[in-house]
Amino acid sequence: MEQNVLLQLSHISKRYKTELALKDINMELHPGEILGFLGPSGAGKTTTIKIITGQLRQTSGEAKILGTDSANIDASIYERIGVVSDNSGIYEKMTVWQNLNMFAKIWRVPRTRVEEVLRQVDLSEHSKKQAGKLSKGQKQRLVLARAVLHKPRILFLDEPTSGLDPTTAVEIHKMLLDLKEEGMAIFLTTHNMEEATKLCDNVALLYQGEIVEFGSPQELCLKYNQDKRYQILLDDRKEIILEQTPENIRKIAEWMEKDQVQCIHSCEPTLESVFLQVTGKTLNAW
Ligand SMILES: Nc1ncnc2c1ncn2[C@@H]1O[C@H](COP(=O)(O)OP(=O)(O)OP(=O)(O)O)[C@@H](O)[C@H]1O
Ligand SMILES: [Mg+2]
Repeated sequence: MEQNVLLQLSHISKRYKTELALKDINMELHPGEILGFLGPSGAGKTTTIKIITGQLRQTSGEAKILGTDSANIDASIYERIGVVSDNSGIYEKMTVWQNLNMFAKIWRVPRTRVEEVLRQVDLSEHSKKQAGKLSKGQKQRLVLARAVLHKPRILFLDEPTSGLDPTTAVEIHKMLLDLKEEGMAIFLTTHNMEEATKLCDNVALLYQGEIVEFGSPQELCLKYNQDKRYQILLDDRKEIILEQTPENIRKIAEWMEKDQVQCIHSCEPTLESVFLQVTGKTLNAW
């Protein structure tokens, strides 16, 4: 494995009894890279994270994490990764500080690092509060704080902002971008295409257990959205979508001269529309 490849999946497949949940998954993760697995419910996102982090065994193929086979993952690897998934592992009766301090002791992390992380997730003023009394967003930030306390090389996040309000989601996004700046590699799963567009260097579009497209959000949007279009709302409340042709541009100019245009938008290509074009399904379809 190349030195700067932190994670490598080669031909990973997973069968649960009769269901083939993952089919021939291949990918790599590098330092300072945010890689997103983007797919609807049931696509195989959590299954992928579980295989990589040694919680589940693949049916075939090879997963290598920090040079070690995921099937043989041991404490020395867990010391260098952080995992945030549904089961938060937060001790509700303990305070925020006690929760973090307990892990700091296990990982031999100095007290100053606990303080630093608390500041990063903006929980310093709640450090004496019982974890069980935190709001949902605060709890999610505590989970994240615990996952990065020991400065892991790779951080795994399964749907990091699902169910959070937009403000908390934005705070978490900012924190993830800061961690990326520090050189941490982040592997995240999401079905939120805006989140993926904003955060990810590369995304894998996962559909029915297969990577159907891979690339940077911009690359993919350009690849699948060649024809430029405009959405126009006229005075008579009629909404029109026009392709960019010389004739249509003249038409739009005419409406504008007559002051008949209420609003005009360019139809920006999005990952959502790419996903729809590739799979025929929307990302939030069940
Ligand atoms: N332990 C299991 N036994 C049998 N089938 C399973 C098991 N875990 C997952 N599956 C199936 O594998 C498929 C992929 O599930 P997975 O949890 O990986 O999806 P996901 O992309 O994380 O979805 P979501 O967005 O809903 O979290 C689903 O059809 C699911 O029902
Ligand atoms: Mg999942």
